[in-house]
Amino acid sequence: MTDFKWGIIGPGSIASDFAKDLEFADEQRQRVTAVLSRSEEHAKEFSTEFNVPFYTTDLYRFVNEGGMDAVYIATPHAQHYQYAITCLQHQIPVLCEKPLALNQYQVRELIFTATSNKTFLMEGMWVRFLPSTHEILSRLPEIGNITSIKARLSYRAPHDKEHQRFFDPELGGGSLLDLGIYPVFLTFLLLGKPTQIKAVGKLSLKSVDEGCAAVLKYAGSQYAIIESSLIDELDHHAYVYGEKGYIKIFPPWNEKPEKIELHIYNGETTMLPVEWNGKGLHFEASEVVRCLRDSKLDSSTFAAQASLDIMEIMDEIRKQIGVVYKADEMLIDKQSL
Ligand SMILES: NC(=O)c1ccc[n+]([C@@H]2O[C@H](COP(=O)([O-])OP(=O)(O)OC[C@H]3O[C@@H](n4cnc5c(N)ncnc54)[C@H](OP(=O)(O)O)[C@@H]3O)[C@@H](O)[C@H]2O)c1
Repeated sequence: MTDFKWGIIGPGSIASDFAKDLEFADEQRQRVTAVLSRSEEHAKEFSTEFNVPFYTTDLYRFVNEGGMDAVYIATPHAQHYQYAITCLQHQIPVLCEKPLALNQYQVRELIFTATSNKTFLMEGMWVRFLPSTHEILSRLPEIGNITSIKARLSYRAPHDKEHQRFFDPELGGGSLLDLGIYPVFLTFLLLGKPTQIKAVGKLSLKSVDEGCAAVLKYAGSQYAIIESSLIDELDHHAYVYGEKGYIKIFPPWNEKPEKIELHIYNGETTMLPVEWNGKGLHFEASEVVRCLRDSKLDSSTFAAQASLDIMEIMDEIRKQIGVVYKADEMLIDKQSL
């Protein structure tokens, strides 16, 4: 069987992790064969480290000459939409880092472009594909009907050039899109779309959310409390409570958790297994390989519709806390024409 060929756009920190993890993929041998960077020097450096035969700073050379089976987009958030649209228009299957885009209107356009070009699209919500998530889902019946979820995530990002994307509104900065998306994902996975959202945020001078919190209510009268921060060190465990017990996921619960405990009230505590090679980005990569092999345009495990639903929740939170990106303003401009 021939190797599966990945192209990478945005050879930064997570792209490096992705390239390293490909060696653990068991679906098919996978490797990076093309890289697009804004800088010749950076492209060369990354290509040397991962033995990539083709690199360029020209997007049109990349899509036309890259010869890849799929592309992994790992630029800061604000560039996801444009790169994904271009790749989809060239019928290159897309795995795009979270968040898929900056707002629901961009996500809708991506889905439309993928569908009309009959090309695969998936957001890189890699936690959905981790063995720990499968394990949690399979053990849920033991805690009974879910009553509430509490999930927090924080990272005290330094205010320097290297970490600019976290605080820069031009790059889609803010804690919600970077970190809060994981608590939103967890609540969506387990409870679906909320019927009510109440959110508050602490905004920076540039009006991005340094921190934000939200309470979500569901049709079955369950609720969730979620929080994200780029300035406070939160106690970031995630808890899923049920009528008979609860699951406690230890940090980093959106990656490979230190451990996961299943507590049954007045009963046993069981440790759920958390073991795999590498960071775990190869699980989502293998999902893309499987979907393409089966000629699927969408993953049934994490469909593009799920990305849209999650983005709608985040749009509502941003609306309530007052975070507006240029991409939102352009949309308002378009609507008022
Ligand atoms: N799944 C996860 O756990 C996870 C973890 C971290 C990040 N992410 C997501 O992955 C994306 C990238 O995060 P990262 O931490 O890898 O960022 P990063 O280290 O800053 O890398 C992003 C790369 O994108 C390229 N780029 C293209 N346009 C850019 C622009 N206008 N400004 C800055 N860089 C630009 C840069 O490479 P060149 O200079 O070579 O063009 C840069 O190295 C984000 O959307 C983030 O949400 C996901």
